[in-house]
Amino acid sequence: MNQLIIFFLSSLFINSLSSKAEPPKKISAHITVMGIVYCDICSNNSFSRHSYFLPGAEVRMDCKFEASWPKTREQISFSVNRTTNRHGMYKLEIPSVDGIACAQAAIDSSCEASLMWSSSKACNVPGYKSSTKEIAIKVKQQNICIYSLNALNFRPSKTDAGLCGN
Ligand SMILES: *[C@@H]1O[C@H](CO)[C@@H](O)[C@H](O)[C@H]1NC(C)=O
Ligand SMILES: *[C@@H]1O[C@H](CO)[C@@H](O)[C@H](O)[C@H]1NC(C)=O
Repeated sequence: MNQLIIFFLSSLFINSLSSKAEPPKKISAHITVMGIVYCDICSNNSFSRHSYFLPGAEVRMDCKFEASWPKTREQISFSVNRTTNRHGMYKLEIPSVDGIACAQAAIDSSCEASLMWSSSKACNVPGYKSSTKEIAIKVKQQNICIYSLNALNFRPSKTDAGLCGN
């Protein structure tokens, strides 16, 4: 599980490095908030051998960032719906946010992702935690902020004793 997350993050990181980044004149950041949704096949809130990432799951993201200007403090907050891609990943990108320094933003920001629905008939019961608040900084540079949220999961309505034991 962790290795898979690291794989996603590193490919994301490489993508963002290879896109040519012009140094901004004033402080401004490219923010990415991402997370994954998987099918918790054995309903024990873990990514076990038979688990898989869930495409087509709808997630609602509520985020708030504090921007610091010399004299004022602005709050940027938004709420969006995202659908997971074929790797079970959802992602929100905000290309250019003025007044955000990533290191500080990580301290002052909060993001929450909540499960809305799954488009998989086989795996559509929201898991133990249907929302997450934990946010981790994955890449910390002045201008590129990549945050990841804890994994969310749906589970099947019945667990398969053959796969999961009892
Ligand atoms: C997200 O989807 C829900 C359910 O369809 C809807 O009520 C809500 O307004 C949507 N939010 C946004 C920001 O589009
Ligand atoms: C969840 O169940 C599966 C199948 O029994 C097992 O392989 C896995 O280790 C369990 N995970 C946890 C955290 O108990």
